[in-house]
Amino acid sequence: MLVLGVESSCDETGVALYDSARGLLAHALYSQIAMHNDYGGVVPELASRDHIRRVLPLTRQVLAESGRTLPDIDGIAYTQGPGLAGALLVGAGMARALAFALNIPAVGVHHLEGHMLSPLISDTPPKFPFVALLVSGGHTQLMLVSGVGRYTLLGETLDDAAGEAFDKTAQLLGLGYPGGPALSKLAATGNARRFTLPRPMLNSGDFDFSFSGLKTAVLTLVRKVGLGEAADIAAAFQAAAVEVLVSKSLAACLHSGATRLVVAGGVGANAHLRERLTREAAARGISVFYPRLEFCTDNGAMIAYAGAQRLAHAIGGDLTFAVKPRWDLASLDAV
Ligand code: KG4
Ligand code: ZN
Repeated sequence: MLVLGVESSCDETGVALYDSARGLLAHALYSQIAMHNDYGGVVPELASRDHIRRVLPLTRQVLAESGRTLPDIDGIAYTQGPGLAGALLVGAGMARALAFALNIPAVGVHHLEGHMLSPLISDTPPKFPFVALLVSGGHTQLMLVSGVGRYTLLGETLDDAAGEAFDKTAQLLGLGYPGGPALSKLAATGNARRFTLPRPMLNSGDFDFSFSGLKTAVLTLVRKVGLGEAADIAAAFQAAAVEVLVSKSLAACLHSGATRLVVAGGVGANAHLRERLTREAAARGISVFYPRLEFCTDNGAMIAYAGAQRLAHAIGGDLTFAVKPRWDLASLDAV
């Protein structure tokens, strides 16, 4: 089954073609980061307008790269939520219209399900069950995944998401948007032991997180010592955030008896997180699976893949559609 996947929930337009027999055939991405950079964050109206400009050229590109044409497509998957309503509507409208014209099914995919299943787009995918650490700009969750659509929430952030904490801390340190990659680059040149920042909820005994206190601690530190030591502050922040993420993820695996841990979402691209997690997990007999680096952040491949799993189970549907800017992952139907 050949599935076209369309992602447009935030500031990246992603389109991909996934073949359930052959795997990923092609994927293309247009990032709006440069456009939003001037504003210090994503401007929803500008994001929607740009998705409109990009989505069809990217679709033509993946078709051309994989040597396929529109009639070859068996189904279309699009991000239905969560995300920016106007941005979601661009992908949903395009996908639904194209599916109607081609007389094929369309399916709305949960953005975080896409992230969570993205490590499965691999020649050596992890087997179910596994624990998933979802660390994106908008979400930080630990989930027990026992199959497609079988998700149990183990814990989540009570305030800021991990990526949001990276972005806000980067802003305090005068780095651009999105802050995560810039902060981690600066942190690599700093001394993480120079300053000690709090590890919020490290010993709370549950799988929940809190990152807003850490961000406030950075603000207090910056006010005290200034930006002359920004690299050391960045390293201290990263060490604190990563320690909590690693510790809670491994505790969630031990608690649920899972020997596999999947890391997904933009913060999963963080080199320090990957290094510590892989090392500490191995010491406890846990294998860690990451998506390809390019599939850590938003992309069409993960939507095409998740959609293919759902379309394979013949989900019908009428011609009406709605996007879900807020959507609880644990409420999905199991396949
Ligand atoms: O998953 P994603 O592309 O979008 C959402 O669904 O939110 O994640 C974006 C987030 C941003 O907060 C960004 O700063 C963060 O992921 N990020 C990183 C790194 N690369 C991206 N955070 C830390 N280290 C990185 N290398
Ligand atoms: Zn995302």
